Amino acid sequence: MNVETPVFTTPDEQVAWLGTDPIPAKAYYDPEWFELERQAIFMRSWIEVGHACELPEPGTWIRRELEFADASILIVRGKDDRIRAFYNACTHRGTQLVEEESGKGANFLCPYHFWNFGDDGRLVAAPDFKRFAPLTKEECSIPKVAVDTCAGLIFVNLDPEPKHTLREYLGEYADRLETLPVAKATTFHEYVYEIDANWKITYDNFQENYHLRHVHGLTGVATVHQQNQYGYPDKYTFNGPHRTQQIWVNPEPLIKPMQGYNLGLVANDCAQQGIMGSPDSRTYFALFPSLFIIGTPMQHFSHKVYPISATKSRGVFRIYWVDDDDSATRRYAREYALCSLRDIHTEDVNIINRAQKGLLSGAIKKIHFMTMEGLCRHLYQQVVARVEDYLEEREAAGETA
Ligand code: FES
Ligand SMILES: [Fe+2]
Repeated sequence: MNVETPVFTTPDEQVAWLGTDPIPAKAYYDPEWFELERQAIFMRSWIEVGHACELPEPGTWIRRELEFADASILIVRGKDDRIRAFYNACTHRGTQLVEEESGKGANFLCPYHFWNFGDDGRLVAAPDFKRFAPLTKEECSIPKVAVDTCAGLIFVNLDPEPKHTLREYLGEYADRLETLPVAKATTFHEYVYEIDANWKITYDNFQENYHLRHVHGLTGVATVHQQNQYGYPDKYTFNGPHRTQQIWVNPEPLIKPMQGYNLGLVANDCAQQGIMGSPDSRTYFALFPSLFIIGTPMQHFSHKVYPISATKSRGVFRIYWVDDDDSATRRYAREYALCSLRDIHTEDVNIINRAQKGLLSGAIKKIHFMTMEGLCRHLYQQVVARVEDYLEEREAAGETA
């Protein structure tokens, strides 16, 4: 087949401003550094935790565990249709209110002494409450968590007074995210994994294409081609702490027969649902600190990495869909899409684990990012900037670091 040579330039110059310095390896395994990241970043950034389609009607709720904060959060769509979030903890003596992952009901009844909370976290009833006098029910609301949505995605912020609204935080990407198929999603398939690796090592693996041709020989990831052997993207963009890469179009993608059949089914669905036309359909968004979302309607997935400790993380892959899988064919196409993603990820997991193990002894003092690993460098620099801000704030407040 005669392939037209694509117009392709290496986007080196788009990342030149990030510099070329080596990176201290300690930031990828040291518990003390992780503690600074936890406080400076995860405890006060907007963290994506789900999608509004999980709260389809008033009274529905979901529970989310955020290990980095030892927190269990309830996210609830109230009778007034507003989405609120509060801790899954009773204000009597702290007992967790629910163990289920999701549910429906206007109230949360604590199983210990039956304090009963409304869908806004306010205490509405408590047995023999007069004996708590002078305590009032108004003083017993569950602590709230800041929550907001963009493109249907639900974000929470554990800072009691977030410095920015979610839209301020996402900046110009907020409007672009709203054009993605995820904004119309009504359902999804999910795959959750735990990995013995730092959250940045886990995340960086998905921010560089350098490894594609070496690690993904089995699945033949579609951006690698003789004209672009390292899968260089067409373009990078940066926006505050966030970044994107625009994926290169392979003129001769290696598509296996079953994959082709499946893509045809999904494409047909997407066309019928009018979600083929996003201007960001080749954009891979990396939203700080640790969310990916890809614009292609053909495999519209998000990937979130939650830190657990300096060397342990939990990841959540989701592929979002519009409408239920109401036929065996559609069900098959969707399951196949998730399985394909999982196949690719299986190839990544082993190498991510090895990357972590190699660093643990401390013998490797510095690591190196080439220009095409510029998104990894940008993440590291953003992390450092936030840790420095945090330390300055603590110093200004008279606290010792
Ligand atoms: S701990 Fe919840 S009612 Fe006592
Ligand atoms: Fe990979």
